[in-house]
Amino acid sequence: MKALLLAGGIGSRLFPVTLGVSKQLLPVYDKPMVYYPLSVLLLAGIREVLLISTPQDIEQYQRLLGDGSQWGITIVYKTQDKPNGLAAAFLLGEEFIGEDPVCLILGDNIFYGLDFSKQLEGVVERTKLGAKATIFGYTVKDPQRYGVIEFDDKGVALSIEEKPENPKSNQAVVGLYFYPNKVVEVAKTITPSKRGELEITAVNQYFLLSQKLQVETLGQGFAWLDTGTHESLLEASQFIETIENRQGLKIGCLEEVAFQKGYITKDQLVEQVQPLQGTSYGDYLLARYS
Ligand code: DAU
Repeated sequence: MKALLLAGGIGSRLFPVTLGVSKQLLPVYDKPMVYYPLSVLLLAGIREVLLISTPQDIEQYQRLLGDGSQWGITIVYKTQDKPNGLAAAFLLGEEFIGEDPVCLILGDNIFYGLDFSKQLEGVVERTKLGAKATIFGYTVKDPQRYGVIEFDDKGVALSIEEKPENPKSNQAVVGLYFYPNKVVEVAKTITPSKRGELEITAVNQYFLLSQKLQVETLGQGFAWLDTGTHESLLEASQFIETIENRQGLKIGCLEEVAFQKGYITKDQLVEQVQPLQGTSYGDYLLARYS
């Protein structure tokens, strides 16, 4: 399974903050935003990642994340000239994806919940074996800001609409998607929406109509955090701070996840964290693993 990590766009809702820096590099409490979705990929057991960002921002991602070998994974990079939609990722990533199934994750989505990695490993295995795509629904109070899933009485998905004025439910589609390899061909058939974007919702509709879409729900105890506005970005930081300080454990800590998954050894972890000694991030890892 390969993964596309989408970290482009212009972040216009966060102007002027994002006039000089890519949104997904902004801090969410004690680490860059992109660490959180990248840690989700590591937890899911996905170790080959294509990071997509704008021509002006890609170098900063390369500087921050390198080739991924420090976490026992591979990260390669591709630029997207214009933010022409999430589904464009499959076209940009066609060569990278090759014959494999693929996961798409948005670089500004934060996920936190019990047993999430087990759930993801299950989805990865199912996607590898079958022809079905999987998306996730999450209850929100403002569904008109998202892709929205309509269900029948038995919980079977009936429709998906992108940012509907009159949402048919309060189940938003989160920014994490798993597809069989066929998604590349499906993305080629999509035409731009009214807002001029190749919509991921159009891809999901295709799989839904072909009866090849599995919708899993993320329950009440789960946190899917938004970072799209100044308020939600601040709230996300406060949420991470609260949980981390209460438990004394870090969320989205790539070195720790890589070690726990067996991608790197303890010695490798300690060696690479040495330069971060004296920071709360570095001292946390050194206290736990050296
Ligand atoms: O966050 C989940 C939502 O993401 C879904 O519920 C929607 O169905 C889906 O369309 C998407 O909605 P947004 O309007 O929030 O997407 P946005 O345009 O903000 O882009 C999401 C991220 O992807 C953002 O960090 C920027 C990046 N991006 C976006 C576009 C359009 C790119 O890297 N390239 C792009 O072309």
